[in-house]
Amino acid sequence: MNSLLLPALYLGGCIAAMSMFSYIYRRLTSVKQVESWFPENHDKERYIALLNCDIPVPEFHLRAALLRRAMQAVHRLKEVQQEKPALQQLMRMGSIGDDLWRDFSLAEQEVVMELQDIAQEANTYKPNWNQTIFSTAAQMLEHEKQKVLLDEMKTMREDEQKRRELQLEQEEKENQLAGERRMREAKKAEEELLRMEEDEQQKKNKGKSNKPKAKK
Ligand SMILES: *[C@@H]1O[C@H](CO)[C@@H](O)[C@H](O)[C@H]1NC(C)=O
Repeated sequence: MNSLLLPALYLGGCIAAMSMFSYIYRRLTSVKQVESWFPENHDKERYIALLNCDIPVPEFHLRAALLRRAMQAVHRLKEVQQEKPALQQLMRMGSIGDDLWRDFSLAEQEVVMELQDIAQEANTYKPNWNQTIFSTAAQMLEHEKQKVLLDEMKTMREDEQKRRELQLEQEEKENQLAGERRMREAKKAEEELLRMEEDEQQKKNKGKSNKPKAKK
């Protein structure tokens, strides 16, 4: 998975090529499309920029970048496939305009063309890679999705753990405070008792010593 990040490093040496390409690419796509369904395809741009890099880029990185591009294409294909039935339904009901339907159809065509481009491109690296690149890309997408889910679950568990620890800490503190309060109260009661006993004693003593005085 890390190997897919490496092509990005090569872009450091390709900034001029990249920005030039992006400029042209954006101009071309903005002419071709009125309103784009998908955001810009950075994975596609990155691959083409690497391919057109002045500095020779190891084939290994080109293949990794192409796989990234394939992952993006598969992701978009899935979205188009998921959205299509609902859009068709809305279209039949007249709930959406022709514009939206046309944008969608364009996006769909573009995805199909992108898949074809990638398949052709793949065969330039390995014969018949076109037959496996998309299933590999789909697996990697699934893997990434799982990883994101797992990370989310882990974060949730950690938060829960932290919350519980904090609660325990709080309870312990409260228990300690309550214990201290009880100790103080017990001590006060003890002192009170002692004082009462002393008073009692003094009264008795007074009674004894007062008697002779009273006789005087
Ligand atoms: C893969 O490429 C080969 C050779 O170009 C071609 O004959 C075959 O139909 C392609 N297969 C797929 C699934 O695109």
